[in-house]
Amino acid sequence: MTEAPDDGHQASAARIYNALLGGDTNFAADRAAAALLESKYPTVRQAAVANRAFGLRAVRHAAEAGVDQFLDIGCGLPLAPNTHEVARRSRPAARVVYVDNDPHVIANGNESLRGEGMATVPGDLRDPAAVLDHPQVRDLLDFGRPVAILAVAVMHFIGRDDDPLRIVATLRDACAPGSWFVLTHACTDTMPADEVTTGTSVYRRTATPVTARTRQEIEKLFTGFELLPPGLVSPALWRPEPGAADGPAPTESLAGAGVLAP
Ligand SMILES: C[S@@+](CC[C@H](N)C(=O)[O-])C[C@H]1O[C@@H](n2cnc3c(N)ncnc32)[C@H](O)[C@@H]1O
Repeated sequence: MTEAPDDGHQASAARIYNALLGGDTNFAADRAAAALLESKYPTVRQAAVANRAFGLRAVRHAAEAGVDQFLDIGCGLPLAPNTHEVARRSRPAARVVYVDNDPHVIANGNESLRGEGMATVPGDLRDPAAVLDHPQVRDLLDFGRPVAILAVAVMHFIGRDDDPLRIVATLRDACAPGSWFVLTHACTDTMPADEVTTGTSVYRRTATPVTARTRQEIEKLFTGFELLPPGLVSPALWRPEPGAADGPAPTESLAGAGVLAP
């Protein structure tokens, strides 16, 4: 793990998530934030696991549908399997660019998420044009062919002032027909109100405050994309693997994948 200052003062979204997933790329402040979240809503680790599993299932489905280019925005800290490993099971030549605005994520990605046909680059979803214009994005991805844009558990770090619809429209307008848009997003309609309050207060202490949205607001982020079956659902309920454990699905977020029609 690349060292980050363990000053105990500020947790980060990437490391809190890593702690929730049982990873070891996190510090005391992150573990404390994860523990606080868990103390208020005990299913938060299950929700993180379901979120991660959804993202990778969506990658598998996109790859099996023929997509071999992935732009993973808000990629988070490396945690095997990563997007390129899943995509390459069915598309061995798949190209993947990982993007995040957290320097600690980029430092770790530069250690393990690089190699032939892939790169980890700094970028901020609030400036999607700059992400699309990054030289390594341009070099590795051909936007004349379908690309899967992954925005898994990242759009809720975009505040209302940053106009999430503008962001998605910029990404969508750069994409060729057949491109995928994959999203999970914290949802105020499905999450109990006290969880929204706890989550908001925990992430307010990070560099990335959280903005949960209504189902209707989340649905609008798919404007221009055709939502694929089963639509916008709990991450655990999006095309679950055969034999996946039954039980209550996490209610913290909604997940979906859309395709850009010709
Ligand atoms: C909860 S993690 C999700 C990681 C991964 N996408 C997943 O779902 O497994 C959220 C990630 O989004 C990143 N992030 C937050 N705001 C961002 C922004 N404006 N631009 C790019 N990345 C951002 C954080 O640094 C963090 O790594």
